[in-house]
Amino acid sequence: MKALVLAGGSGTRLRPITHTSAKQLVPVANKPVLFYGLEAIAAAGITEVGIVVGATAAEIRRAVGDGDRFGLRITYIEQAAPLGLAHAVLVARDFLGDDDFVMYLGDNFIIGGITALVDGFRADRPDARILLTRVADPSAFGVAELDDKGRVLSLEEKPAEPRSDLALVGVYLFTSVIHEAVRSVVPSARGELEITDALQRLIDTGHDVRSTLITGYWKDTGNVTDLLEVNRTVLETFEPRIDGTVDAASELIGRVVVEPGAVVTGCRIVGPAVIGAGSTLTGCYVGPYTSIAENCRINDSEIEYSIVLGGARIDGVRRVEASLIGREAVVTPAPTVPAAHRLILGDHSKVQIHA
Ligand code: G1P
Repeated sequence: MKALVLAGGSGTRLRPITHTSAKQLVPVANKPVLFYGLEAIAAAGITEVGIVVGATAAEIRRAVGDGDRFGLRITYIEQAAPLGLAHAVLVARDFLGDDDFVMYLGDNFIIGGITALVDGFRADRPDARILLTRVADPSAFGVAELDDKGRVLSLEEKPAEPRSDLALVGVYLFTSVIHEAVRSVVPSARGELEITDALQRLIDTGHDVRSTLITGYWKDTGNVTDLLEVNRTVLETFEPRIDGTVDAASELIGRVVVEPGAVVTGCRIVGPAVIGAGSTLTGCYVGPYTSIAENCRINDSEIEYSIVLGGARIDGVRRVEASLIGREAVVTPAPTVPAAHRLILGDHSKVQIHA
């Protein structure tokens, strides 16, 4: 069995972060979302992985490399344009051969991994198996309609009037019959070759398409709320560990990880929280569910329930909450006179000011 990981696409929903970084590399608890997927694939006993890359190919290659550290053998497959998930299967045809495979969307996060699912598929081998989860906003997803025995009756991509609240999760299990189905797909209204149409084709031609309902799923809805939630869930699994330097005046409570080279001086950190390698925190309060990436400088500030990306600086600000702060961003107080906000915001930024 092989894995096909999709790491193209432009990530409009997570702007402005994705203006400068691939959406699959947005970190959750200081680790790119894509790495959780690769680890889940390795844990399921799969070693041959094709990663479909697009405009951000260089960045993905730099981050993942040859896959050695995940115990995977990685083949990069170029997709010239983001023409849809079925198109990704088309361009990966040579890599996939006639093997069964799991297709994994690199921006999806599945709590608990995919081992049971892959084991189950190896045992019962329907023509295809999809994952479904109940969502509040089905029209943002592919939506499935099931019969009373749980068989998949129909699939529709981002329907205006969804027939159920069962959304397609970005993990699919396929046998080689999918190849013929993807060849028959024509571009959708959004100009893409949809995998939902290929699956519908399988259903229409009498193939056995089954579904598994899961909980504990996250997709990049562009709503930072979701990203913070998944960050919280992952941080909760951390064991406390101090590999950096913490002075005697600091107080660390609960699940706090201080990575190597981080220096914590005169701070109170209430976990779960992670302080990335090489970051310097002085005179700060860091509250629960906060991930601070590598090489940040945070001074005389309070921050809680937030994600701070690499190299950011926060100085003299209280309190930052429920925030996503991008790479090398700088947050400082405005001068007291005049009492005004001073903002230099990137395209598509979102700011909520306490006024
Ligand atoms: C894609 C699929 C959709 C699925 C979703 C899960 O959507 O087309 O059916 O529900 O992934 O992440 P996209 O990410 O292209 O909007």
